[in-house]
Amino acid sequence: MEFFHSSEKSEKIISDSLIFFVAEKEKVSGTLAAIDRKLDGIVREVLKSEEFTGKEKQVAIIHTHQKIGSRHLLVVGIGKGLSRDALRKGSAVAGRRAKTLGAKRVAVVLPVGFLPQSEAAAQAIVEGVQLGTYQFLKYKSVPEKKHPLESVVIGAPAARRRRINEGIRLGQLFVQATTFARDMVNEPASHMPPREIATAAKRIARQNPQIKLKVFDAKAIAKLGMGAVLGVAQGSDEPPYFLHLSYVPRGAKRKIALVGKGITFDSGGLNLKPGKHIENMKFDMAGAADLLGLMSVLPDLKPKVEVHALIPTCENMPSGKALRPGDIVRTMDGKTVEVINTDAEGRLILADAMVYATRLKPDVLIDVATLTGACLVALGEEIAGAMGDSRSVLKAVFQAAEQSGEKFWELPLVDEYKSLIESDIADLKNTSRSPYGGVIEGGLFLREFVGKVPWVHLDIAGPAWAERDTNPYLPKGATGFSVRTLLHYLLAQ
Ligand code: BES
Ligand code: ZN
Ligand code: ZN
Repeated sequence: MEFFHSSEKSEKIISDSLIFFVAEKEKVSGTLAAIDRKLDGIVREVLKSEEFTGKEKQVAIIHTHQKIGSRHLLVVGIGKGLSRDALRKGSAVAGRRAKTLGAKRVAVVLPVGFLPQSEAAAQAIVEGVQLGTYQFLKYKSVPEKKHPLESVVIGAPAARRRRINEGIRLGQLFVQATTFARDMVNEPASHMPPREIATAAKRIARQNPQIKLKVFDAKAIAKLGMGAVLGVAQGSDEPPYFLHLSYVPRGAKRKIALVGKGITFDSGGLNLKPGKHIENMKFDMAGAADLLGLMSVLPDLKPKVEVHALIPTCENMPSGKALRPGDIVRTMDGKTVEVINTDAEGRLILADAMVYATRLKPDVLIDVATLTGACLVALGEEIAGAMGDSRSVLKAVFQAAEQSGEKFWELPLVDEYKSLIESDIADLKNTSRSPYGGVIEGGLFLREFVGKVPWVHLDIAGPAWAERDTNPYLPKGATGFSVRTLLHYLLAQ
């Protein structure tokens, strides 16, 4: 989808749908009032008769009968504030509606209130329209109509051109990274085994000479001493991989290590997940997919920091060879872990990857993982958990999330709960029998493997997958949640 800036008067812009955003209780004014005059007052009339108040997700459609350059107007409510996320959501609503109207070319009038932040606003529009109209159609044999939307014009004064174009450029890259992750996560586990995760990483490295890749196969993983990855992988016929991608720009002063959970299917292992709990578990590699999407755009985004993405990937399956409850695995730093529950596999493979990450001596370590069902219980489906021992990294992540619109909430990593993961016979156990505080328990376990590196853990178990169509730019299925926050984070370094 292409995006352009135009400084033409909105009535002159040629499009199928001309989109106006209206905040709650905002009066028809400015450009929309001018168009209303051209259309003999029909805009005010329709908004009144449809009781349009500017509430989020509200849309009014007005046919223009060729009195202006666009076939119809879409007036879209963006709720109370002038927040970027309201604009992102409004753009998604508008994009979806334009699509059902069969529009090929749409134009968006940037509300005057957003002019002081034109760049961020343009980025939000690009993200909203494209993330909102995303579809995963690969397996539809009767081709569902691909949406016809081809181009989007962003209407704003000429003086804003440079900023709008920069916002468009950033938005396109953020969307590309997010879509990359969504496509990988939406693939069935049969088509996205660890081998395919490695293939995706190789493709990224091939297409971007600035991304370096090291691929460790089972033998090399054994050589590294990653006993936890091998343990989790041993029940599956699919061999594990450990991937190390790096982006090292010249003159970088800081080094950021990112670790992503890449369980391509989490059956639970011998602690087999019951009934409904197993249904979505192809999504358990979302952390890994997010990092691959993110890495794929770094050569174009050019953050000033060194970035390392570390991805342990394997499949958690029950079989005669599978890890048993009570077994003990040894992590890369030599710690022994008693496996109480084979379904708490994410923290096992992350432990090895985090030890590897600390050996790179990064300034910051952030891990992203669909780690615990407990996080869904605590924070619901739309909010990710954040934990860590570094106030400054947490703060930077929250600031980045402010820009992306993704929601994170901090949970406390209190020492009082450490006994939950103390084992009688090994250095640690991978879970307690307590039904409470599972998110923190997961965080505390990971903390054992970060050494002194400032670290933040992001538990994206809830928002990595949208069960419902509640947020208009997160259609049902894989969301790519965390990609845009992490990109903002890297750009702010
Ligand atoms: N991949 C799951 C986490 C998960 C569960 C995400 C449900 C989304 C929905 C993880 O590997 C897991 O199974 N965690 C267990 C941990 C428990 C055994 C301590 C859980 O949350 O039930
Ligand atoms: Zn599990
Ligand atoms: Zn899992």
